Amino acid sequence: MSSIETTRLGSNGPVVGVQGLGCMGMSEFYGPTDTEEALAVLGRALELGVTLFDTADIYGSGANEELIGPFVRAHRDQVVLATKFAIERRADDPSYRGVNNDPAYIRQAVDASLRRLGVDEIDLYYMHRRDPAVPLAESVGAMAELVAAGKVKHLGLSEVTGPELREAYAVHPIAALQSEWSLFARGVERSAVPAAAELGVALVPYSPLGRGFLTGAFADAGQLGADDFRRYLPQFTGANAQGNAELVEPIRKIAADRGVTAAQVALAWVQQRAEVHGLTVVPIPGTRKRTRLEENAAATALKLSAAELAELEPIAGRVRGDRYADMSNTSDAREV
Ligand SMILES: NC(=O)c1ccc[n+]([C@@H]2O[C@H](COP(=O)([O-])OP(=O)(O)OC[C@H]3O[C@@H](n4cnc5c(N)ncnc54)[C@H](OP(=O)(O)O)[C@@H]3O)[C@@H](O)[C@H]2O)c1
Repeated sequence: MSSIETTRLGSNGPVVGVQGLGCMGMSEFYGPTDTEEALAVLGRALELGVTLFDTADIYGSGANEELIGPFVRAHRDQVVLATKFAIERRADDPSYRGVNNDPAYIRQAVDASLRRLGVDEIDLYYMHRRDPAVPLAESVGAMAELVAAGKVKHLGLSEVTGPELREAYAVHPIAALQSEWSLFARGVERSAVPAAAELGVALVPYSPLGRGFLTGAFADAGQLGADDFRRYLPQFTGANAQGNAELVEPIRKIAADRGVTAAQVALAWVQQRAEVHGLTVVPIPGTRKRTRLEENAAATALKLSAAELAELEPIAGRVRGDRYADMSNTSDAREV
């Protein structure tokens, strides 16, 4: 397959392939990991023109940054490296998630990420979660200082509302907003997407495949490994999972009619939904396998018809269960 198209990530951001790669599952969360295949995925991604590589300091508690670091250094001029700060974990309690937006914390978090990645500069540095206890202007001000210090090129936010995005943008230009956006998760279209469109901020949809649900491959949480994070997600458990599996049927049907896969239909949908809203979108599907990377990249060429889009329209409104077991750190919790 030839190289995917490119786009600019936000009005002043870097040029990237129109689809990026989520690296999270290569270290944690979705079952067994395979370092050799993960490194092969990274290499194949660049060959396909997938240049935006997404990690975070919490993925594998630093292991994901360490995994991709050597690859990033070997292809520094081609890779657009994105990582994130703000979520704190505790070694003695794997389920604990704290949110820290304190300027002093941000300054030490960026140094720790740079060290693990082994690079001098991060291309895109996101605030992973918002802590309303710290004024947003203070946190974004601290992030802007990292740009001035040459540690970070561009700024991003994750899981913020439209008003929060505007407030942050007034302090420093924001290249990208990374939030969950898929056929199963459309809350972002309420205030964040319209604000991003107006400001010229690109949307980087995370979990565009609904953490695998939208590929049609998921049957029930019982098939997931004991350490698979999805076991604890409301959409993946009990009656919710059964109901949600039925919602995937129209996606499968369109895929079968078009001779593509359900994953490709889900990715094409998010790309076309962004066109409706008039903003740049660079989804970051996550995969640990080259075959799936190739399948996902090929979806950038798929165009769904108006009739197909209409068939998919009701799905999100019928999804059972929240996106997370604890929604308190999400943008949904602060939407008014
Ligand atoms: N900002 C945030 O708060 C946040 C939250 C979550 C994720 N993220 C980022 O977003 C990235 C993507 O999200 P995600 O990984 O949660 O979910 P996703 O991309 O919606 O789905 C990933 C899952 O789908 C499977 N998959 C991928 N391509 C497939 C295909 N073509 N056919 C069948 N199955 C396929 C993967 O399994 P295999 O690995 O076996 O292919 C994996 O289990 C992450 O890697 C991470 O970088 C950010």
